Amino acid sequence: MNTNKTYRLVLLGAPGAGKGTQAERLTEKYSVPQISTGVILRAAIEAGTDLGKKVKELIENGKLVPDEDVVAIVGQRIAEKDCENGFILDGFPRTIPQAEALDRLLDENGTALDAVLSIEVKDEDIVTRMSGRRVCKKCGASYHVVYKRPKNGNLCDNCGTELVSREDDKVEVVMGRLEAYHKQTAPLKDYYAAKGLLVTVQGREELADTSAAVDEALKNL
Ligand code: AP5
Repeated sequence: MNTNKTYRLVLLGAPGAGKGTQAERLTEKYSVPQISTGVILRAAIEAGTDLGKKVKELIENGKLVPDEDVVAIVGQRIAEKDCENGFILDGFPRTIPQAEALDRLLDENGTALDAVLSIEVKDEDIVTRMSGRRVCKKCGASYHVVYKRPKNGNLCDNCGTELVSREDDKVEVVMGRLEAYHKQTAPLKDYYAAKGLLVTVQGREELADTSAAVDEALKNL
């Protein structure tokens, strides 16, 4: 791999489409960090910070957090040294104002996105998938009781912490998150298509098939 190459990627997709799963894999492949606003916000809730207290109810009800909060998080994070050669943004941007703010942040640094990958999964498949998801409260790693089983019972492969279901994976909350996705986030596909950055893949039932489709779609990066 060409080490001078930068990889600034955005992963788009409905809740549970597989953004986090693919981001975890791509971060190793391209040696750039994964930045998941969902993971950062859940860590803030867990730590009981002011931000965590502010966003807890919104997240548990499947609503989006205010743009200014997530833009501030991402602005600080992408300015860190480990993002010099790029990053995988997972769950950001999620609204047109967030996408515009990201453009400004990158522009100020004289950089730009390389690609925006949208993972497409039908709503009915999402609802089934979310009921089987288990996450690590400590490091945020994500598993599935059928499609991505942890190696050791119900414990995280990375840090051995017990795995739990996410509060916002309850069916009624997932329905609200899907609604927010279709109204506020799906329009980003047109936004990035107009910039010539959008690449689309079908999120298939077998993880390995989705991973292969993603690698094929990004092979010309
Ligand atoms: P966030 O954590 O970003 O949640 P999300 O976008 O709803 O996405 P998920 O993490 O639920 O799913 P994913 O696409 O990463 O799927 P995963 O890989 O885990 O955000 C949570 C909340 O924070 C939001 O609702 C909002 O309130 C707030 N927030 C975050 N960012 C924000 C922003 N920018 N602006 C405003 N608010 C923001 O996969 C799901 C499951 O399926 C896993 O169990 C996985 O193992 C399995 N799986 C994955 N791929 C496959 C496959 N191909 N086949 C079978 N199973 C698979």
